[in-house]
Amino acid sequence: MAKVGFIGLGIMGEPMCRNVLLKGHNVTVYNRTRAKMGPLVSTGAKPAGSVPELVQRSEIVITMVSGPEALRDVVTAKTGLLCALSPGTVHVDMSTVSPETSREIAVMVRGTGADFLEAPVLGSLQAAEEGTLTILTGGDADLSRRLEPLLLAMGSRVIHVGDTGMAAHMKLLINQMMGTLLCVFSEAALTGIEAGLSAEKILEVIGYSGVACGALKMKGADMLLERAFTPNFPLKHAFKDMRLAVETGKAMGIPSEVTAAARDMYGRAWDKGFGDRDIAAVIRALTDK
Ligand SMILES: NC(=O)c1ccc[n+]([C@@H]2O[C@H](COP(=O)([O-])OP(=O)(O)OC[C@H]3O[C@@H](n4cnc5c(N)ncnc54)[C@H](OP(=O)(O)O)[C@@H]3O)[C@@H](O)[C@H]2O)c1
Repeated sequence: MAKVGFIGLGIMGEPMCRNVLLKGHNVTVYNRTRAKMGPLVSTGAKPAGSVPELVQRSEIVITMVSGPEALRDVVTAKTGLLCALSPGTVHVDMSTVSPETSREIAVMVRGTGADFLEAPVLGSLQAAEEGTLTILTGGDADLSRRLEPLLLAMGSRVIHVGDTGMAAHMKLLINQMMGTLLCVFSEAALTGIEAGLSAEKILEVIGYSGVACGALKMKGADMLLERAFTPNFPLKHAFKDMRLAVETGKAMGIPSEVTAAARDMYGRAWDKGFGDRDIAAVIRALTDK
């Protein structure tokens, strides 16, 4: 059993960390908002008062924070990871960040003598709770293999996709597709409803069609019927991923016009107050109903 430090106990981090704990690992936790450590501490995790304290107690440090800016903060702050990491420790970042950020963090972490593996995840809250995430790894293949037993506490499969940065590319392209799909679904479905089709009929027929898919199965009913927008994947993170996808496309010389339009739609929904609601609330960029 490993000594694991877990930083970032949000919607995803909390259940992921819980599954690591339930497998019997020796877990120390840290979260910027300290109150969120409470439930895991009650389940047997040890609280750390600071990031360096957590690092000193851990062989493997996992980060699961909102995005590139948060990860940079956690790593480079005056009391961040860099001031405590040392040879023999591994930093596994599971957040969704840009390939560029992942590579920059890898260089900084390796500069301390510690190892680094990027490991973003596919799947949302339910998969995090059930421990059935798909975990994409980028970096040293042997390190990925060595960490697989730990990663499988949180997921059903670990897929090594290439060097550092490649798992971030893979994760972003999936979210780029899902993010744009929900935008065009919003436009098409609202047009159909305005023309007189029922939301139920639209969802039923899509289910039999060539555009039926997991994303619409998960979000379609909430977008058209329930409108609860309970945050499983917060819309502000979807906006972040669309922004990163556009920047990445630009860096690769690929125009991302559709993605840029979708990014702006997430921006408008955020401006209307839906940043902390679910990604499904993107439909509210188009309508106040
Ligand atoms: N939700 C999903 O369905 C899903 C699925 C796959 C991947 N992801 C990705 O997984 C990551 C986490 O997502 P989530 O849904 O768990 O997000 P979340 O609920 O918003 O949690 C974000 C975590 O990051 C921490 N954080 C933010 N800024 C920070 C900073 N400057 N310094 C230190 N900690 C900071 C937060 O701390 P506080 O508690 O103090 O705010 C919180 O622990 C994101 O990169 C997201 O894109 C999410």
